[in-house]
Amino acid sequence: MLFNSPLSGERADRIISMLALDEHSKVLDIGCGEGEFLTRIYQFSHGHCFGIDINDRSLDRARDKAVMLKAGGKLKYTETDIVKAGLNKNSFDLAVCIGSTHAFGMGDAAYPHALKEMKDLVKPGGLILIGEGFWKREPDQEYLTFIGEPVGVYNTHEENISQAESFHLISLYAVESNIDEWDHFEWSSRMEAELGSNKEKLDHVRKWNLFYRQYGRTTMGFGFYLFRKEL
Ligand SMILES: C[S@@+](CC[C@H](N)C(=O)[O-])C[C@H]1O[C@@H](n2cnc3c(N)ncnc32)[C@H](O)[C@@H]1O
Repeated sequence: MLFNSPLSGERADRIISMLALDEHSKVLDIGCGEGEFLTRIYQFSHGHCFGIDINDRSLDRARDKAVMLKAGGKLKYTETDIVKAGLNKNSFDLAVCIGSTHAFGMGDAAYPHALKEMKDLVKPGGLILIGEGFWKREPDQEYLTFIGEPVGVYNTHEENISQAESFHLISLYAVESNIDEWDHFEWSSRMEAELGSNKEKLDHVRKWNLFYRQYGRTTMGFGFYLFRKEL
């Protein structure tokens, strides 16, 4: 899987091309996983790119890509929890967090905490790009019970935007994953598990896939939100 989110390479490249980054730009990707999004940002801008994640195995894959690109010190990864990272405020031109707002807090605290902390991290006039789930319709209780999350954990697409605006962030762009990106994301993970040898993982993925087909496909959306911090 390219990304651990319902995101295609085409959409990633389109969004990155809109960010007006250059070789002086300082970019932070929080919960960067295997670094595919940050790698593409580096290839596009040759800026100073920093990825952080708590999963060192994912970071090893991200680092391999940086080595292949001969990025030197301009594409760096650190294993750390964002809450303990102690990053300087007002220091980034762009902060990215795709599918990782739970790094900032549990349940319904995740998204607002991500907005607040990311706003602190970027410079005045800097950009914040968040990939976040949302409810396309009222979720069925059976689905919520299965995914183990309360109703309040996600907003609607509109609420994801208006909540950021209540933090005095300026909305620049918003787009949602399409059904092809969702199906590819969910079914790639099923195919990987089916072709692998981890029985426990396969049982879990099969069940997840069934709930995706029965509920998630029509219930959960995923949006990409680009905001600007006021000057
Ligand atoms: C769903 S994955 C998304 C990865 C990547 N952004 C992507 O779209 O492919 C969420 C990532 O957040 C990371 N993560 C979770 N909690 C974190 C924390 N407290 N600090 C940093 N990273 C965290 C996980 O290890 C995981 O790689």
